[in-house]
Amino acid sequence: MTDSSPRWALILGSSSGFGAAAARALAADGFHIFGVHLDRRGTLPQAHQVVADCEAAGVRCLFFNTNAADDKRRGKVVDSIAETLAEDGGTLTVLMHSLAFGSLKNLVRPVGDEDGVVSAKQMVMTQDVMANSLVWWTQDVVHRGLMTEGGRIFAMTSTGARQVTPAYGVVSSAKAALEAHVRQLAYELLERKITVNAICAGVTETAALRKIPGHEELIRKSTTKSPISRLTHVEDVAGAICALTDPRLYWMTGNTLGIHGGEEFIG
Ligand SMILES: NC(=O)c1ccc[n+]([C@@H]2O[C@H](COP(=O)([O-])OP(=O)(O)OC[C@H]3O[C@@H](n4cnc5c(N)ncnc54)[C@H](O)[C@@H]3O)[C@@H](O)[C@H]2O)c1
Repeated sequence: MTDSSPRWALILGSSSGFGAAAARALAADGFHIFGVHLDRRGTLPQAHQVVADCEAAGVRCLFFNTNAADDKRRGKVVDSIAETLAEDGGTLTVLMHSLAFGSLKNLVRPVGDEDGVVSAKQMVMTQDVMANSLVWWTQDVVHRGLMTEGGRIFAMTSTGARQVTPAYGVVSSAKAALEAHVRQLAYELLERKITVNAICAGVTETAALRKIPGHEELIRKSTTKSPISRLTHVEDVAGAICALTDPRLYWMTGNTLGIHGGEEFIG
């Protein structure tokens, strides 16, 4: 690897929301993009559009439509990444975890409500996709020597890791686990000079947000609290991620970084 070697970013959750915006922004900064996403026919065009936009920026873009939480499928994607990097002499500089797929059910049935509550299977699935998969992907890219000194790992979290929101309990516990994984990975990867940080975005209109029961109230509250009546935009976070790839930030690791216009601190 030399200073002019191609730089690649691997984005988990690359077809929508923060992942798609980061793919576009990193491509505009000259990063080639590997993307992993899970789309059926109805939403697949959005993945194709991200690829087209990145390629229009003059970089290579390889997307995999597969379950990022499945060990075998992850292995196949990592094999393809390794082959591509071996061919072009590139290095994986960024790994971004931006997967949104979890149970939005209560832990306990509300009085008088016979609707289902979260099952053990749903709890485990949510933890696997939204938290533990960060560890498995990190293991693979580090152990296989695909990400080395100067690597930057980012994981998307939310204030829901520390606050209570209706129907968000299962995801909340996954976010708390994700932030713990980030701290531990940061500690263990310090000797390899790879940094790991969680990104705590503000409330942002994306497909995932629209699935949360009562999301209209979340949007209303955040907009009202904001002194300039505005939510976070996916581009706010994408731009910050580009800036956070700066080599001078080698000592900034293990944090949960708020990219929310101060939303978290407004009462
Ligand atoms: N939207 C918000 O307000 C907000 C705020 C803070 C944090 N976050 C977090 O940001 C992350 C991204 O959320 P978003 O709002 O951009 O969601 P989104 O729904 O717009 O995008 C989710 C992406 O994850 C992919 N995906 C989901 N499950 C997958 C799986 N098993 N395998 C492969 N790909 C999978 C989807 O294909 C899609 O590309 C999530 O972790 C979310 O909790 C969101």
